[in-house]
Amino acid sequence: MCGISGIISNTSVSRRLLDSIQNLEYRGYDSCGMAVINSHGPIVRKNVGHVAEVAEKELFTSLDGHVGIAHTRWATHGGVTPVNAHPHTSCDGTIAVVHNGIISNYGELKARLMKKGHIFRSETDTEVIPHLIEEYRKGGLPLERAFVAALNELDGSFAVAMVAAEEPWGIFCGKHESPLIIGLGQNENYLGSDFNAFIEYTKNAVVMEDGEYAIITHESYAVKRMSNGEPVNKQVMPIEWDAEMSKKGGFPHYMLKEIHEQPRTVIKALAIDENAIINLARRMIEARRANVTGVGTTYYVAQLGQYYLASEAGVSAPAVSADEFLEGSAFGPEDFILAVSQSGETYDTLRVLREAKRRKTRTAAMVNVIGSTMARLVDDVVMQGSGPEICVISTKAALAQMIILIRIAIEAGVLTGRITPADRKQKIKQLEALPDIISGFLNEYSGFVHTLAQRTAHHHNWLYLGRGRYYPIALEAALKVKEVAYLHAEGMPAGFLKHGTIALIDEKLKSLVFVPTEKEEELYNMTMSSIEEIKARGGSVTAFHSSRTLQRSKLLDDQLMLPAAPPLVAPLVSLIAAQLYSYFAAVTLGKNVDKPRALAKSVTVA
Ligand code: M6R
Repeated sequence: MCGISGIISNTSVSRRLLDSIQNLEYRGYDSCGMAVINSHGPIVRKNVGHVAEVAEKELFTSLDGHVGIAHTRWATHGGVTPVNAHPHTSCDGTIAVVHNGIISNYGELKARLMKKGHIFRSETDTEVIPHLIEEYRKGGLPLERAFVAALNELDGSFAVAMVAAEEPWGIFCGKHESPLIIGLGQNENYLGSDFNAFIEYTKNAVVMEDGEYAIITHESYAVKRMSNGEPVNKQVMPIEWDAEMSKKGGFPHYMLKEIHEQPRTVIKALAIDENAIINLARRMIEARRANVTGVGTTYYVAQLGQYYLASEAGVSAPAVSADEFLEGSAFGPEDFILAVSQSGETYDTLRVLREAKRRKTRTAAMVNVIGSTMARLVDDVVMQGSGPEICVISTKAALAQMIILIRIAIEAGVLTGRITPADRKQKIKQLEALPDIISGFLNEYSGFVHTLAQRTAHHHNWLYLGRGRYYPIALEAALKVKEVAYLHAEGMPAGFLKHGTIALIDEKLKSLVFVPTEKEEELYNMTMSSIEEIKARGGSVTAFHSSRTLQRSKLLDDQLMLPAAPPLVAPLVSLIAAQLYSYFAAVTLGKNVDKPRALAKSVTVA
């Protein structure tokens, strides 16, 4: 989604503003721009394309000034054009604004302002903001009050930053339902949609809440309430991530780096305080109804959680995709919703949690980003501690979430009496063995996965099949290859195939089957039946498996033999193989691995 950055200093800011929006590129964008204040007021430069290209073309770094705002835009209202890129300005050009979010009443505001003679240049919802501020200024309000009056008129979601010619020493900003964070430095302060905007310069941050606005100068910041202008006392939050963690560290892409960081993220997920895990397990059991939610990858994580909670603990906690939750689920004060989100800012998931709050439903969230909206909104939060995930494609964060859900399932199993203390110990040991299994796999099998991808990535249509715990893995694996390699892959339960989709099977449609371990005899045999059914119809099967018997079977057209792992964690090894396969498929096909087309890291709009 859009990225906002701002710097107020007593030295030139344009170079660092450029670095800052480059650090926000991972959020996803199609155009970008910058406004720096000099003696003539805000000078705006913007265009479409990659930040580096636009910066070069528009001479960003030649802008001279001590105060500036910058923006990466992910189009929602209005096409990807230079004029729609932010910042947007008032008619007289003295007010420049950047915005993240969607202003739902922009149509009526625009009509009103146009009647009053305001000239609009873009098709965006954002442009109403500078004109509205200008209108309030014309009506006699001082700038601060005009800014707040304008924000109070906006419906929808927004994080807004403004610079203005008449008060050239600072940045005005405000937010509702879109993230905004102030960074506190030495003789300079910063603004960002997330920490990555200023993590190179400071580790002290102030997280703004909905309904707050702030005025930031190079040596001070004041946060106030939009409703009445009263000052708000804010806590300074230390950022635990450091700038190095957000660099590629020798890997060609963040995706590969983050796949390789997974042994470490598992260790971190296993180090999360046991009491926090038991607390969530207890909430699952005590609730009248429990649901796990997320969207995209985190929905599939939630689905995997559902399978483990059912099988380990006998707890029914259906996963519901957050974008459909409110329309398809009933819940009230006796229920419990656990949300899963890497960013903690996803609109669909926040919509569920906000409604749950309204209905007094108990909520919890598992999130990766410190200080994120979700982390602050829910009753209980588990910080997954996976470190910054820069690639738009989620890998390490998803794996960590899966580990945490498996831990919750194990503790729930202990509480429901399904798992004895000795079994629990055994299962934790199996989880603890996973980092070594992953490291071994990444070191020894990457070459095989690469070759497999080179051999097969030109096939454009795939079915990804799995049974039981391998079904959510198949779904997530299919999403990975869709988003990064743009291959069509339909994730499906292997048993579901024969109920219709089997009609599609021919020599052109490829099937990738996630085969359970031989120890899971029933599941293994049922999955083998599905493979037989595909082969009987002339289909082609690639299998990810760890079975010596299957290795020699003539049924498979292609295969990836995985390292042996206990059934508890074997699905996760299959997932890592699928992540790596998707990565190499994207590389083979020459795709933009870290920033796939049309995707955004943090999806903060409906
Ligand atoms: O930040 P969140 O985990 O809430 O994001 C949810 C989805 O937008 C996200 O998982 C998306 O599907 C990723 N592109 C997956 O790789």
